[in-house]
Amino acid sequence: MGSAVENFPATAPAAGDILPVPREPEVVGISDAREPQVHPALAARIAARYTPKQETWREDRPVKIIVVGAGIGGTTTAVLLSQKVPNSTITVYDRLDNIGGTWAANVYPGARCDVPSHVYQLSFEPNLDWTEYYPKGAEIQQYYERVVAKFGLTDSFRLRHKVLRATWLPEAAQWALEVQNLETRQVFVDTADFFVSSQGRISEPKFPDIPGLADGVFRGRVVHSALWPSDLEYQGRRIAVIGAGASGQQVVCNMLKPAGHVDHYVRTKTWITASLLGDYVESTADAPGGHVYTDEEKRAFHEEPGAYVEFRRDLELRMQRSRRKGASTIGHPDNEQLREKILERILERLDGDEEWLRRITPDYVVGCKRPTPAPGYIEALKTPALSYITEKIVRVDETGLITADNTHRPADIIVAATGFENGYTSRFPVIGADGVDLRDKWGLDSPVGYPESYLGVMAPGYPNYFTVLQAQANAAGGSVPLQAEIAATYIGKLIRKVQSQSYRALEPKQEAADEFNNLIDNYFENKTILGECRSWTKIGFGKGRVVLAWPGSFHHRVRALREPRWEDFNFVRRPGAELNRFEYFGNGLTDLDETGDDIRLTDYLREYSCSSRNATSADVSKDKRRSQVLQAQRTHCQRTQTYIKMLEREVLRLRDSEKTALDRAERLQKQDGSSTGGSRDSGAAAATQRV
Ligand SMILES: Cc1cc2nc3c(=O)[nH]c(=O)nc-3n(C[C@H](O)[C@H](O)[C@H](O)COP(=O)(O)OP(=O)(O)OC[C@H]3O[C@@H](n4cnc5c(N)ncnc54)[C@H](O)[C@@H]3O)c2cc1C
Ligand SMILES: NC(=O)c1ccc[n+]([C@@H]2O[C@H](COP(=O)([O-])OP(=O)(O)OC[C@H]3O[C@@H](n4cnc5c(N)ncnc54)[C@H](OP(=O)(O)O)[C@@H]3O)[C@@H](O)[C@H]2O)c1
Repeated sequence: MGSAVENFPATAPAAGDILPVPREPEVVGISDAREPQVHPALAARIAARYTPKQETWREDRPVKIIVVGAGIGGTTTAVLLSQKVPNSTITVYDRLDNIGGTWAANVYPGARCDVPSHVYQLSFEPNLDWTEYYPKGAEIQQYYERVVAKFGLTDSFRLRHKVLRATWLPEAAQWALEVQNLETRQVFVDTADFFVSSQGRISEPKFPDIPGLADGVFRGRVVHSALWPSDLEYQGRRIAVIGAGASGQQVVCNMLKPAGHVDHYVRTKTWITASLLGDYVESTADAPGGHVYTDEEKRAFHEEPGAYVEFRRDLELRMQRSRRKGASTIGHPDNEQLREKILERILERLDGDEEWLRRITPDYVVGCKRPTPAPGYIEALKTPALSYITEKIVRVDETGLITADNTHRPADIIVAATGFENGYTSRFPVIGADGVDLRDKWGLDSPVGYPESYLGVMAPGYPNYFTVLQAQANAAGGSVPLQAEIAATYIGKLIRKVQSQSYRALEPKQEAADEFNNLIDNYFENKTILGECRSWTKIGFGKGRVVLAWPGSFHHRVRALREPRWEDFNFVRRPGAELNRFEYFGNGLTDLDETGDDIRLTDYLREYSCSSRNATSADVSKDKRRSQVLQAQRTHCQRTQTYIKMLEREVLRLRDSEKTALDRAERLQKQDGSSTGGSRDSGAAAATQRV
């Protein structure tokens, strides 16, 4: 059988050449020479020719997203997805009374953040009016509440609603969540295309398993630091605080004065450091917030935006660089140096008392547990107001606590500052595509015993399920709000993919998740986090599995999540798109072609002035700092323009919808007018003119 091209010249014909007449294609399996059959490959192509449903391609198919958790993770996700996923309906459920998660729950006396206020905020929503250098918990809570309100999302937050169970419905390609209204106790089902879990890694308070405490023998009051009763009177009462993490130390320091005396039960000691950003601004007993911003400073933040950015940049760089050195590597001279520096400062605060220094120095490497600033704690140790007790608590009786040395110490109130249950895997059932509860795969009792996420954001077998600030989600050097922003932005991209093309679900491939997880243990192999201590950041004592952290720096995570690796995903097509992945190509038109306004149709045009601010290579070589500033100005300029464009679009959108409403009103009025025979000056038409 001849080739289809055999009677054509081997070389390209030149102008004026006489070309041979092509032979008829040879017939395969002749039955009737007058009806030549096409080659099977071509026949297959012809048979597969496809016409999608003749609809306009709309990128913004309506989608519903449910977020569980209204902490920093959930609020950031809701805010960013509301901006990044058009035509989305977002509902956020939280069992608490207020937005803010950690900062709504932990209202014990003196609850405060040890990261500077101007860092512990969203990059795109700076608050220029923070009161102190280290913010009080209440101020953080109010900040997130304000952000939610500013983005018009307050009504999307359904507080005092507890999610009990989530189930993936493969036929519907939706998540069904069982939710309990904590006011009415009623349970209802809400469904969504996408489900984001941001339940908090440390949101479920854990009480100590001490005989006599759990079984109600103790006649006084028992409270947990994260479940603080608003009516707790503790002036002049005998207080026992169990737990020496950051919460325990803050509670002790803040109850000391009103109570007069506190017994502090310390099972494991905690490294006490001045500040997490080097010794930049130290919080002290008299100034636990480190520094109170003056009106003048706040005014300068408002009036000099450039200077404010520089101020923030300095803080952010301190945060990034503080984590980059060898200080987090076991045996590294930087870690040793850090330890010496911390000991020196503690000794100073102890007025040189070596005996006390020995008593409170932890026996594990600096960085294994999160250090705490504990302003005022060290200073109180040597006073009669504070009893530092390291003997094991063996039981609690009706009136107090008994330690292993058989000492009974009376107490009116026991404060359990004993941390939280493991929150790296959902605390309620999450049933995936194969009917398996994620807790059975990732829970402490599962065969592996820890979560094996895909990039700290997804789980194979759980389509359209995302997590924010759960396992492997904290990259060294970036604040918690920034980590949430990175994840939410990434999730937005995944949702947009499904929303805009022929898909209804996506999930990471198991092999992709496996290969990501195979990197983790080796990355943390000699890091201080795997020192000989117990911590909520890992599972197990000492060399356990690190669950908190991303295997890399903050910028490493930013870069890794900037663009989704589509090759790592399995997709589920939408009904009707089974035969052709380009079903969404529709009739060849987009909604822009049909309804786009001037600006949207020419979205690719940019104002030249921004790019003219770009640093030249001469600038770069001459003055690095200047080029950085120019670059920052350019970015700022572009962002401003993007923002203006967004506003313009919004105005146009509103104008469109108003016009539609007015047209309709006018039509109705006309109908009304014609039916009554009258001709009225339409208010709607006048309003249209105004627009
Ligand atoms: C006392 C304290 C102080 C801290 N200080 C610092 C600090 O100084 N610096 C720092 O970087 N980090 C600090 N942290 C860590 C802090 O938890 C994180 O920085 C951050 O606030 C976590 O936000 P999140 O949204 O992930 O979780 P959370 O704030 O815990 O929010 C999770 C939310 O999910 C809700 N939820 C859980 N399950 C359900 C359910 N089934 N149904 C409905 N809602 C549910 C919870 O009610 C909660 O509101 C601190 C933590 C604590 C406890
Ligand atoms: N502004 C701040 O700096 C700030 C304030 C509060 C919290 N935080 C953050 O929140 C995280 C959680 O802090 P947290 O203090 O609430 O919890 P945590 O760090 O987990 O500390 C819990 C403490 O309770 C002790 N404990 C638990 N069970 C006990 C028992 N049965 N008997 C005796 N002691 C027991 C633990 O000892 P073992 O170590 O021996 O288990 C530990 O000292 C911190 O890591 C920190 O990141 C920060």
